[in-house]
Amino acid sequence: MSEMLKVATASEVEAGACKAFEADGKTIVLYNVDGEFFATSSKCPHQGGPLGDGLVDGKTVTCPWHAWQFDLVTGEAIFDPGFKIDCFKVELRGDDILVDLVGK
Ligand code: FES
Repeated sequence: MSEMLKVATASEVEAGACKAFEADGKTIVLYNVDGEFFATSSKCPHQGGPLGDGLVDGKTVTCPWHAWQFDLVTGEAIFDPGFKIDCFKVELRGDDILVDLVGK
């Protein structure tokens, strides 16, 4: 099952940055990697750090609390793929960023 939901507009997320948004009762982090958008869950699996305040470097986000890093495509922690964040499918329609919060 999949359900594309508008979470934000592209102009709300600067290139090379990320930002947290509320959608459907969840906090979703959107990333702008050179105009390509990614979406993940917001809680770091280490101690719940806010990934929306993280640093984006290519397709990797670094948690602001203790610097764990995650791949934005697979959701896997760089140092140990056993730790994961959720990654959601993203679609750009005009200026709208739609995210599939149901299917992954
Ligand atoms: S809470 Fe994210 S690295 Fe510790």
